[in-house]
Amino acid sequence: MGRTFVMCKPDAVERKLVGEITRRLEESGLSIIAAELRTLTPELLSRHYEEHVGKPFYDELVAFMSRSPAMLMVLEGEGEAFAVARQLMGATDPVEAESGTIRGDLGTEMPENLIHGSDSEESAKREISIFFPEL
Ligand code: RTP
Ligand code: MG
Repeated sequence: MGRTFVMCKPDAVERKLVGEITRRLEESGLSIIAAELRTLTPELLSRHYEEHVGKPFYDELVAFMSRSPAMLMVLEGEGEAFAVARQLMGATDPVEAESGTIRGDLGTEMPENLIHGSDSEESAKREISIFFPEL
C-alpha cells in the first residue's frame, strides 16, 4: 500500500467541488485515511511549498492558498498512490490539462487549479509529516 497527500485548494472548497474531486479520487481506488478542513498560514505554506519559495509566482500562490480553508487529505491505495492521484489531477495549468482530468474538466486559470497532490513517494512522506504528524 502507498500513501499520498492531497489538498482540495481554497478555490475547490469555495466552488463546492470537494465532493466531485473526492468522488474521482475514490473511484480510482484510493481511500481516505485522514481529512481536515483547515485555513493554511503563510508559515505552513512556506514549509509545504519550500521548493517554490522566492519564485516569481510564490507570493500570489501563498495569497491564494491562505485566503480560505483547504480540504487536506491523506489517501491510501495499492501501488504508487501519489502517481494515481497525479494522473487524475492533470497538468498544473488547467488550460493545458487534458479533458478527463480534474484540472482539465473543472479548473479555470492559474494559480487556481483546484487540487494539490504529492509529486513523489518522498514528497508524500514529507508533506504527510507536515500536516498529519500523528500518522
Ligand atoms: P501542486 O504542487 O500544487 O500539486 O502543483 P504542481 O505540482 O502541479 O505544480 P508546481 O510546479 O508544484 O506549482 C505549485 C502551484 O503553484 C501555482 N503556480 N502558479 N502562475 C504561475 O506561473 C504558477 N506556477 C505555479 C499553481 O497553483 C501550482 O499548482
Ligand atoms: Mg508541486
